[in-house]
Amino acid sequence: MFDYTNQNVVVVGGTSGINLQVAVSFANAGANVAVASRNIEKVNAAVALLKQANPNGNHLGVSFDVRDEHALAQGFTIIAKSFGHINVLVSGAAGNFPASAAKLSNNGFKSVIDIDLIGSFQVLKQAYSLLKRPNASIIQISAPQAYIAMPLQAHVCAAKAGVDMLTRTLAIEWGIEGVRINSIVPGPIADTEGFNRLAPNDALQQKVASSVPLQRNGQKQDIANAALFLASDMASYITGVVLPVDGGWSLGGASIAMTELGSMAVKQGL
Ligand code: COA
Ligand code: NAP
Repeated sequence: MFDYTNQNVVVVGGTSGINLQVAVSFANAGANVAVASRNIEKVNAAVALLKQANPNGNHLGVSFDVRDEHALAQGFTIIAKSFGHINVLVSGAAGNFPASAAKLSNNGFKSVIDIDLIGSFQVLKQAYSLLKRPNASIIQISAPQAYIAMPLQAHVCAAKAGVDMLTRTLAIEWGIEGVRINSIVPGPIADTEGFNRLAPNDALQQKVASSVPLQRNGQKQDIANAALFLASDMASYITGVVLPVDGGWSLGGASIAMTELGSMAVKQGL
């Protein structure tokens, strides 16, 4: 449906879960794709999948921690040498664990802020000089915690709220160059690290599914499809948007389910 042939796509945090599906879907649509994350084995495995998806594409993997400004700059230098410019950036590296604010160490809080919020800012800044042209598109992968308070998620709520405000602010600052930036907010997505950490068994995941108006948890492909659309010319007048892709969960069910999940974990002593 979408043709990204000869387009250069970078997916930061693109080596597992939702973001890997996004990366593979861009490759399936003809793009050259670069993925980046900390773990070199995950990076290499992801590149192998990209090559299977699109054997004609120019794919590469780089290893860096988004918290490490120097490593990030080196990684983007490698990407720049291979791609010259970037058409689409997906920024989705994140960390999450349930922990009560009272027990969470300052460094625990800071580690999530450093990865999700400051890491995203550093990624956007590194990519900007390669993206700065009309029709370039940035997609940030946010989370419902950005606007729905959840017990045991103070660190993630604070970080992802900041991510979405970066989206809105940079839509204004960078719109002048023709660069669009939007956030996708995935609902509960089956078979992912993020969902497994917050709803760690089938019974809880089924309970969450029943709180979604469309009565199912999402698939990774649901998020990839939204990314393919948002980065395309079909979305050329859409910028600064925070788009839930969640089966209607954020209309009400998410507040109830996220409070319940958090409260249950609190009772277990987290
Ligand atoms: N509960 C409370 N605190 C925790 C914690 C938990 N489950 N896990 C880590 N922390 C704290 C650590 O104790 C440490 O604080 P301290 O120095 O005061 O003890 C701090 O967080 C950093 O932990 P560390 O293990 O050194 O961080 P890291 O940089 O190696 O890993 C994480 C970052 C903690 C976010 C890790 O979970 C991660 O790499 N996550 C990526 C995968 C993921 O979360 N996927 C879901 C995507 S949303
Ligand atoms: P995941 O599989 O753990 O994906 C996280 C990715 O980020 C991995 O590729 C990981 O690879 C990378 N990463 C983590 N920390 C990094 C760091 N410091 N530097 C560089 N890369 C780093 O988790 P997921 O559940 O699919 O989540 C993907 C995104 O969707 C996240 O932004 C998350 O907040 C969002 N989200 C998920 C859900 C859900 O239901 N799963 C719901 C809402 C939002 P390395 O370990 O190799 O670094």
